Amino acid sequence: MTFKKLVPWCVVIGFVIGLVAACTDKPTNQTEKRIEALLKQMTLEEKVGQLNQINDVGGLPEDLKAQLASGEIGSFLNVIDPELIIEMQRIAVEESRLGIPLIFARDVIHGYKTIFPIPLGQAASWNRDLVELGARISAEEASAIGIRWTFSPMIDISRDARWGRIAESFGEDTYLNTELGVAMIRGYQTDDLTDPTAMAACAKHFVGYGASESGKDYNTTWIPEVQMRDVYLPPFQAAAEAGAATFMCSFNDINGVPSTGNKHLNINILRNEWGYDGVLVSDWGSAENMIPHGFAHDLKDAARIAANAGMDVDMMSYAYPQHLADLVREGKVSEKTVDNAVRNILRLKFRLGLFENPYIELPTENPFYTERALEAARQSVVESTILLKNEGVLPLTNVKSVAVVGPMSDAGLDQMGTWSLGADPNFSITPLAAIRSEYPNITVNAARGLEYSRVKDMKEVGKAVEAARKSDVVLFFAGEEAILSGEAKCLANISLQGAQTEMLKALKATGKPIVMVVIAGRPITMGPEIEMVDAVLYAFHPGSMTGPGIADLIFGKAIPSAKLPVTMPKMVGQLPIYYNHKNTGRPANNITYMDDIPYGAEQFSIGSTSYHLDAGDKPLYPFGYGLSYTTFEYSPVTLSSNILKDNETITVSCDITNTVKYKSDTVAHLITRALRG
Ligand code: NOJ
Repeated sequence: MTFKKLVPWCVVIGFVIGLVAACTDKPTNQTEKRIEALLKQMTLEEKVGQLNQINDVGGLPEDLKAQLASGEIGSFLNVIDPELIIEMQRIAVEESRLGIPLIFARDVIHGYKTIFPIPLGQAASWNRDLVELGARISAEEASAIGIRWTFSPMIDISRDARWGRIAESFGEDTYLNTELGVAMIRGYQTDDLTDPTAMAACAKHFVGYGASESGKDYNTTWIPEVQMRDVYLPPFQAAAEAGAATFMCSFNDINGVPSTGNKHLNINILRNEWGYDGVLVSDWGSAENMIPHGFAHDLKDAARIAANAGMDVDMMSYAYPQHLADLVREGKVSEKTVDNAVRNILRLKFRLGLFENPYIELPTENPFYTERALEAARQSVVESTILLKNEGVLPLTNVKSVAVVGPMSDAGLDQMGTWSLGADPNFSITPLAAIRSEYPNITVNAARGLEYSRVKDMKEVGKAVEAARKSDVVLFFAGEEAILSGEAKCLANISLQGAQTEMLKALKATGKPIVMVVIAGRPITMGPEIEMVDAVLYAFHPGSMTGPGIADLIFGKAIPSAKLPVTMPKMVGQLPIYYNHKNTGRPANNITYMDDIPYGAEQFSIGSTSYHLDAGDKPLYPFGYGLSYTTFEYSPVTLSSNILKDNETITVSCDITNTVKYKSDTVAHLITRALRG
């Protein structure tokens, strides 16, 4: 597979199989000496304090001040008032015995204020540089108020669209997750974590979380070692090699052992095999969750298991602050184990330059929504929106009027997607607003029809139908609200919600050409709806600049180049679905569909290969699918060698010809299969 390149007219693209060079941020000996010197001065309680991460309590009450002064807290999440951050830091640095600075963390997942497409959307761009730029801008915005640690990238391989967190991932493919995860890490961290605009990245969730049973969050996973190493671990190994400053445990258990208490993963693989020296933080309350997992008796037992399995920082279980010191005194956790965890968090603080430079400087100019940020976000929308169908309708040229209808046509909050915490919907430009302001010569007839994607009541749909009747073309913005995807937003039915299909039928009855634009957090099953329309653009919640970016594509200011980072199923029953499934002993062929079986047929074997009687073996759209307004022709490929030996590279070349005279991007995919030889 290769990544986005400009294909002006006819060029040769070489495909190189291999990983990008790792950029590591190894500590200096000097740092290690400072860590050891500090560690020697610390009491057991102060050590445990460094391992305690707590959430914003909504201010700075007296008891919190006292905790900070006595070194009982090492880091915070979700404190976002810069003045409060400065004051808390002052207490830690100036009033605590050893003056160890705090770190302030936050889930900056696809933007802090300027919201970029959700990671699943960014993955559709296949553009490392753009993903890195998005992360850089996110870090600049968040660090301006004092956030120096983000819990991103999420590099969980996601093959089940029922799982709400598919929105936060780069999709189903190991290589794509690897490459884009590394790009995001580079964007957040730069090559100098001491830069005040750098944020420590967090590779999460370690590991296998995307394989949760039936796409339900927090659920069980069973992943054999071979699949773990082939599919789930490589993005994390690459993240470690790229110098990701932190890792986060996942909520799931794997083969019966919760990640948070998993010595094999956290010690054998992460520390011993990969030599990782960053911080391993638990997920929110995941130490405590080992009790209902049936793996720990109580919170104290959870603290013991987590510490002995290499979990450094306890996020919001209070297991460490309540029990870790006692466990050491009782000999159930060695002080050496605690010291190792403390080394890791101190190392992070040194790496971030917090000992030298603990305070932020309050910005004199508004650091948010800068022209550069909005432009990058717009480009990201353009490169992330996938053209799935086009029967000669797009791009729209010479139209005098358009109907802008549907629940996502003017939904500033919802188009930003999951994890857009704190972003201002007033800076989220909707398709309706963009078309009105940027295309003043086109008459816009607007009516949402359904106020939200889940609305079942058709009483407002008549207004949208009326708008359609008056227009040359109908732009139907369908999809799902932000609140229907993301953490704990799993669905058993992933078709269009509410009365959207009914609304589409009513629009169809007008006989006008229909362009359906889907704005959603996951693949939606919508075969019948696609049949009804003339063109389909699919955008995974594209963020603040949804409107301008999508309008650029609709009206031909930009050419679609995005390709699916996930397989789109026809039916929910096909899940989990992904392109690189195993071949099976009876790969699908001889397909007989249910409707082709005569009524009253006697028992006989049909096809006897691996497929569903009602869905066949094909998805609605395969991984990597995506059209353009131009077409590309591929010549036969040539290989630099027919044999690939260990540690060698083969170059695969082919001519790719852009057959229409539009300058356009494309992504060429090369998929290989290993056979036992
Ligand atoms: C739980 C989520 O699983 C994780 O991804 C996130 O970083 C933490 N909460 C902190 O908000």
